[in-house]
Amino acid sequence: MTASEQSFDIPEHCRGIGEGKFVFVYTFGCQMNEHDSEVVVLLLGKMGYTKTEDSTAADVIVINTCCVRETAENKIFGLLGRLRKLKNKNPNLIIAVGGCMVQQEGMGKRVKDRFHHVDIVYGTHNLSRLPELITEVSSSRKRVLEVWPNTPEQFDEIPERKVSGVHAWVCIMHGCNNYCTYCIVPYVRGRERSRLPLEINDEVRNLVSQGIKEITLLGQNVNSYGKDLEKNIDFADLIMMLEEIKGLERIRFMTSHPKDISDKLIDSMSRSKKVCEHIHLPVQAGSNAVLKAMNRGYTREKYIALAEKIKSVIPGVSLTTDIIVGFPGETEEDFKETLEMVKRINFDSAFMFIYNKRSGTPAAKMKNQVSNDIKSRRIQELIQVQNDITIKSNESEVGKIFEVLVEGKSKTRKDRLSGHTRTNKIVVFYGSDELIGMPVSVEITSYSLTHLEGKALYN
Ligand code: SAH
Ligand code: SF4
Ligand code: F3S
Repeated sequence: MTASEQSFDIPEHCRGIGEGKFVFVYTFGCQMNEHDSEVVVLLLGKMGYTKTEDSTAADVIVINTCCVRETAENKIFGLLGRLRKLKNKNPNLIIAVGGCMVQQEGMGKRVKDRFHHVDIVYGTHNLSRLPELITEVSSSRKRVLEVWPNTPEQFDEIPERKVSGVHAWVCIMHGCNNYCTYCIVPYVRGRERSRLPLEINDEVRNLVSQGIKEITLLGQNVNSYGKDLEKNIDFADLIMMLEEIKGLERIRFMTSHPKDISDKLIDSMSRSKKVCEHIHLPVQAGSNAVLKAMNRGYTREKYIALAEKIKSVIPGVSLTTDIIVGFPGETEEDFKETLEMVKRINFDSAFMFIYNKRSGTPAAKMKNQVSNDIKSRRIQELIQVQNDITIKSNESEVGKIFEVLVEGKSKTRKDRLSGHTRTNKIVVFYGSDELIGMPVSVEITSYSLTHLEGKALYN
């Protein structure tokens, strides 16, 4: 089969192989991987496998890997080591390792050579081949490595999925064309490809018919949605199309690249009833020299103007971000500019990372790498500054009333319910299980760094 013929329909000879058997999936990395793991469960479901939450009961273990930073890779290597025991106990267990980490040049072979208990290594472009690879391994017991280097020409059809709960991830595009100089994603996820709007529409309608009320549209840079399609459609058009779907209450999206966010999108968001008042807008750094070296395509001034425009057009909007400290060449002055930027924009929250060399990216070859000591000092300082801002932002919500879409029991406080505000803050409150899946008005009574607490208002 060639890459362009790839599709998510499983071949006849794979059906029934997993009857009465179980699959366990480990997921590392971003929401894109969460989504891919859902597809894995779906594909294996077509083979007869049932998902289990107990790895020791599994007949197949799939590990969906990430390589955005070394920490993710180290965790995965640790897990692979530990799985050896499970395989010794159950030699029929099939272990498959897929996703971004093994898509890196030479990494698939490294994993296969080092971990003899791993049966299948498959790349990000080979996801739909997993049922065939599992079928092959179950009959031959021969280990396989299949990592296609290039993006398939045709976008995979995402099969109809059975879902539960109120929220679902919907992938609207694959890959990335931006080549930020620190980032491995374009190398392991391939070029940008948008899904056809009607396919997305059908998928969302199907999800809503199963009770889903909130969707998050996923892409590495959703603002460039549609650029590769023949049809003249952009991201703002797409969300306005989805807005029409009856029963869908909330639309979220991530991630927005600041260089591509359009006035049309900001305007559509302000007019839309369903698009939530939250934008995750990774700034990465506050200094123009660093932004340029990162190849981000915007300046500090442009970012500030954009954030101000968003705040003025969409009242109550929440802005969150990603920041990297210790990028090669980052001086004390540059770092101060990042701190200043963070204070100026007043982000509701931020993911903060120490720059990590990724082999094959331009930044890894830059001569002026920052020492580990300086990087750790800077991240501590940044975290302190941002945490103070986050806590103040959460404190300012006390006394306000928010619509919370109830997702289920709180994971940390099991006697309470939990859900998100439209601005994407977690709210925990007392209420009966009947409220699960419903939008509930909650008055905020207290706060912490990670979430808000409140009481439900019944009318
Ligand atoms: N496409 C998204 C997110 C990609 S990865 C975007 O452009 O925003 C998520 C975050 O990981 C990035 O925003 C960046 O802050 C961080 N990241 C990526 N590569 C990194 C590296 N080499 N070292 C440290 N952080 C990195
Ligand atoms: Fe990586 Fe930049 Fe693409 Fe985001 S936009 S995935 S940070 S290259
Ligand atoms: Fe990681 Fe791949 Fe996502 S590298 S962050 S899982 S796109």
